[in-house]
Amino acid sequence: GNRINIAIDGPAGAGKSTIARMVAGQLNYIYIDTGAMYRAVTLAAQRAKVASSDEAALEQLLKKIQITLLPGDEGQLVWMNDEDVTGAIRKHEVTEQVSYYAAQRVVREVLSQWQRELAATKGVVMDGRDIGTAVLPSAELKIFLTASVSERASRRFKQLKPHEQMDLETLEKSIATRDELDKQRDISPLVQAEDAILLDSTGKSIDEVVQEVVNLGRCKM
Ligand code: C5P
Repeated sequence: GNRINIAIDGPAGAGKSTIARMVAGQLNYIYIDTGAMYRAVTLAAQRAKVASSDEAALEQLLKKIQITLLPGDEGQLVWMNDEDVTGAIRKHEVTEQVSYYAAQRVVREVLSQWQRELAATKGVVMDGRDIGTAVLPSAELKIFLTASVSERASRRFKQLKPHEQMDLETLEKSIATRDELDKQRDISPLVQAEDAILLDSTGKSIDEVVQEVVNLGRCKM
């Protein structure tokens, strides 16, 4: 059949990246984690001490960074210029600030453009917040993946490394705050596209959800 693009959007911790990566693996498609790109820009801005409100400085900063996503054994590797930032972009300091940088017009414009270029050849599974609504509005399959806040927090909790310890309640609050910021922003907020299929993963296994998405994808090919 034809190669298609699959957009997977949804709130933090719904399992988008795990699902998207496995769907891409089954279909032999390319997986693109757009959240990693927003995280990389946030890391670069923090290091350069550029505030999220400083549009002019952000614009200059964006010109200096190149983000590369590479497939790795345990997930995607993220490179910024000549540095592997895979671990650094998952740190608490980045997670807490990323939604402020992601709300800026110049950041969204530049990253959306890169994302569209990556999807131009089709055969892409892209996950994020605005893929179905803004980045790839004509993606052949759009999924809006959710799960209850408590399930999302407990999944994240299990993934925390020993040095990242945080109690479940704090984690739940942090996830809820990020969702709120992502939903309330003016430019391409987190919202289910009208033509997206809502998939609630609460109580479902990863394999179950992956299979559902793959089957939906095959119907569009
Ligand atoms: O997917 P992940 O949780 O790593 O995304 C981190 C943050 O990046 C989100 O909370 C959101 O603020 C931003 N983001 C976005 N648009 C996307 C992907 C991520 O605004 N397409």
